[in-house]
Amino acid sequence: MITMEHVTKRYTEGGAASVDDLSLVVPEGTTTALIGPSGCGKTTTMRMINRLIDPTEGKIIVNGEDVTRVDPVKLRRHIGYVIQQVGLFPHMTIAQNIAAVPKLLGWTEAKIRSRTAELLDLVGLDPDEMLRRYPRQLSGGQRQRIGVARALAADPPVLLMDEPFGAIDPIARTRLQDEFRQILQRVRKTVVLVTHDLDEAIRLGDRIAIMKNGKIVQYDTPDAVLSNPADAFVENFVGIDRAIKRLSLFTVKDVMDSLAPREDSAKVTSGSNLRDALALMVAANSDVLAVVDDGGSVKGQLTRDAIFSV
Ligand SMILES: Nc1ncnc2c1ncn2[C@@H]1O[C@H](COP(=O)(O)OP(=O)(O)OP(=O)(O)O)[C@@H](O)[C@H]1O
Ligand SMILES: [Mg+2]
Repeated sequence: MITMEHVTKRYTEGGAASVDDLSLVVPEGTTTALIGPSGCGKTTTMRMINRLIDPTEGKIIVNGEDVTRVDPVKLRRHIGYVIQQVGLFPHMTIAQNIAAVPKLLGWTEAKIRSRTAELLDLVGLDPDEMLRRYPRQLSGGQRQRIGVARALAADPPVLLMDEPFGAIDPIARTRLQDEFRQILQRVRKTVVLVTHDLDEAIRLGDRIAIMKNGKIVQYDTPDAVLSNPADAFVENFVGIDRAIKRLSLFTVKDVMDSLAPREDSAKVTSGSNLRDALALMVAANSDVLAVVDDGGSVKGQLTRDAIFSV
């Protein structure tokens, strides 16, 4: 669990607060997405959690310990960190990059080697191909995966990720986000994820903290943020299509019925989200879709009214 209590950061004495009396609780094993306009204080907030920056005022507690009372170097060994712009060590191979923290923790060579292979597999890269290369020999998307693998290397209970998928094209980004979500289902972590991308915040965050001028203006579930924006700023930030974005939080399974659809109905899989299902309805110019399972057999129908009822 991460707790921030009345935390303020001024980079210059008496200057403006970059983070302003901010309080935030990230419960154990959950992901909080920090989102807001450029310069609102997201990176500053994150870097105070692993003490790359010291707060001017306030208290930060990570897993029961006040971070100002712990040796910052030791603290960071137990907090995975993906920095904005990846930040791999350029003079080290991929293997050495991933092994950096385990090595500091004194792991044996054999343990490090098997963990490295396991992690590359986890982020969908081939160890034989990757391990001896240097960061400059990888694509941007591959580098970002290595950044995520390195942060996970020592299996830290806490992960801080600053725009980890920022440099990746939208299609690959969605795939990486899905992979990351699956990783988190397998290995539960307490995560703070900074992003500019509301869809990413919705997809990965159990909660979303929307920041403005160093303050949190709303801290809520994605559903609550999208259905009940706290003020005009949040409403504007989440956009006029918030009701459609919200549909992506629900799947066809949640609202389908078991009636037989009309023969000629367009098909949607039961695991699809309702935003995609609505798009299919619009494309098919129909107010009902046939729901099929992954094998293609019909399981029921999805009506427009059912979508609108969520
Ligand atoms: N080292 C520093 N010295 C002085 N001011 C700083 C320093 N680092 C950041 N700031 C200021 O603090 C404010 C918050 O910066 P921060 O990097 O936390 O923003 P951010 O929300 O992460 O922005 P972005 O989305 O662009 O990454 C900004 O006004 C920035 O100019
Ligand atoms: Mg930033």
